[in-house]
This record gives sequence, structure tokens and C-alpha cells, in this order.
Amino acid sequence: MNEPPIRFLTIESTCDETAAAVVTDRLEVLASTVASQEALHRQFHGVVPEIAARAHMERMLPVLESTLHKASLTWQEVDAVAVAYTPGLVGSLLVGLTAAKTIALVLKKPLIGINHLHAHIYACRMAAGVDVFPCVGLVVSGGHTHLYRCQSPTVFRLLGGTIDDAAGEAFDKVATMLGLPFPGGPAVSKLAAQGDPRAHSFPRSFIKDRDKIAFSFSGLKTAVRYAITGPGNKDVRAVHLSESQVADLAASFQEAVVDCLIEKTRLALETTGLSTLCVGGGVAANPRLRERLASLAEQNNVTLHIAPLSLCTDNAVMGAIAVEHYRAGRFSPLSLDVASGLVR
Ligand code: KG4
Ligand code: ZN
Repeated sequence: MNEPPIRFLTIESTCDETAAAVVTDRLEVLASTVASQEALHRQFHGVVPEIAARAHMERMLPVLESTLHKASLTWQEVDAVAVAYTPGLVGSLLVGLTAAKTIALVLKKPLIGINHLHAHIYACRMAAGVDVFPCVGLVVSGGHTHLYRCQSPTVFRLLGGTIDDAAGEAFDKVATMLGLPFPGGPAVSKLAAQGDPRAHSFPRSFIKDRDKIAFSFSGLKTAVRYAITGPGNKDVRAVHLSESQVADLAASFQEAVVDCLIEKTRLALETTGLSTLCVGGGVAANPRLRERLASLAEQNNVTLHIAPLSLCTDNAVMGAIAVEHYRAGRFSPLSLDVASGLVR
């Protein structure tokens, strides 16, 4: 006789997306909701932590209720509650964790705390529909740029990451310098397609360092700034750029970021000897990065999984990694705390 599926309510609130999903232990997605806060942060050209936390407070309950409604489930029919508790903005994380703990306590269901970065890689598993482990995992988002050896869905080893800004953060800040809207990634990549990637020779930190898996994008940001203003303290807003100048700057900047991501991913594949590569996070939506990853995979005989666009940016479907924790008997106590800066 067929056992009824185990239903997981998954919650995501690490940054500026309030998201919930219902997934089963068979990895079916019964419902998914993402409430974006983009409009609230646009005027500030970046995510304002206080505004994000307050917006999560307002949206959490409606997002949960609408997700259960879409899945045609009552609260009592939820079998386990999963939540991303690390890493992220502390105020944002607290809203999701508090909601998850409350539901687990009231319904007397198990609580499963998940790592948001591991979940970004698991988005590839969800999209692939087949096992993708062991693999090299590249997470490229607004807050993180990290490479992992993903031994299994519950065993991740950090190979290295950014020592300052994330790739997405650099896209967002360069977009602001070029007068483009937030979030900057989509706008920069669109313009980059019309520009010359060789117009400016921007720095590519650590690229020649063959024994180091690390990224640094803050110097690149400064280089773009000086390419716009020239030396000195001139305000970028005081400089008028033609359309083709903006396109060339965008293309040259994007190529520098992509070169760094590709070379360190190549190094991670070489050092681990693994032949599967999974890529997730908002910057994985970048068409040039996707194209270069595809040729890297082809040259190296590597199976490539890039999260589809809907699962690149923050969502709760990727929280299905909780199913793996459940199977491994890994549950979290109600005393679980958020860990905002924990990258592992
Ligand atoms: O994963 P995500 O939704 O949030 C974090 O966990 O940080 O990623 C958001 C980031 C933003 O920095 C955004 O500019 C970037 O992903 N992004 C892109 C593109 N689309 C989104 N970056 C480069 N090219 C894109 N097409
Ligand atoms: Zn994310």
C-alpha cells in the first residue's frame, strides 16, 4: 500500500524575499509563493535591513496562508516545518525563524533549520529531477559568492569564497554608478550584451593564484568608479556617459566578474576531481555566465546544472533540502537561533 506523502512547509526570509512553499518527501512542489520587496528598496539602491525585516513581518502570515491555500492544505496537514536560519540579514532571519518555531510548537511538528546557501545548490536538484550529488556547488548571489564540495545533500564542505563583496553586490553597486535601477544585475547584463568586453581592462583578483579558491570584487568596483570619473573624488553622478560608454563599461565589468567565477570554478573541479557542477543564486541568471559555464562544462566533460531562472533568486522551493535532513534524522531544537554571518 502506498504511504501518504510527508508534507513540508518551507520558509525563506533571509534577505528581501518573503517566500513559502509546500513540498513533499517525493520532492513534488505542491505550492510556492514569493513576495518580493524590490519596490521598497529600489530608491535606496540596495536592501535596507530594517525595512526588509518590517516588510517580512507584514507579509509572512499572508504568504503562509496563501501557500497553504494553493496546496489545498490546512495547517494541521503540515508534517514538518523548515526554515532558512543562516546566513542572511539578522532581522529578516528572525522573522522567518520565529514564524517556523511558532508553527512547529503549536502544531507539534518537527522543525528543520536549513542553510540558505546549501538550499541555493539544492535548487539544481529540484530542477534536475535526478540526484546531482556529489558535485561542485557554486553559489553566486547578492550576498554570497562561494564554492563548495557537495559530498551529499547534507554534507557540504566550503572550498572558498569572497573575501569582501559578493558578485551580485558588485553588479548592484556598478549599476548605481552607471545610473541603472536596482537590482543591478538584470540591467547591467542587458546593456553588457551591446558593449565591448575588451573596452576596459578591469582587475581580476586572485585569478592567477592557482592554489587559492577565493574572490574579491571590491577593487573591481573601485576600478569601474575610476573608469567613470577619472582619478580624484568626483561624484559619479556628475559625469555624463554616452549609451555606448555605459554599454562598454557594463560589458567589461561583467566579463571581469565572469572570468573570476569561471577560473575558480575550473580550479574547484580540478582539485575535487568531481564531474558534476551545480550553480545557483541570483547571479546565475546572468546570460553571459550561463554561456561561459556551459563551455567550461563541455571542455571538461562535466555535467552542468544551473538553477532555472525562477529558482535562481530567493525562493522556498529550494528549502526542499529539508527533506534530506528529515531522512537523515536531523531535526532542530526549538532553541535554534539565527546565525546571520555563518558561511560554511
Ligand atoms: O539569490 P538572490 O535573489 O539574493 C541573495 O540571496 O542575495 O540574488 C540577488 C542578486 C542581486 O544582486 C541581483 O543583482 C543579482 O542577483 N542578479 C543578477 C542577474 N539577475 C539577478 N546578476 C547578474 N546578472 C543577472 N542577470
Ligand atoms: Zn539567496
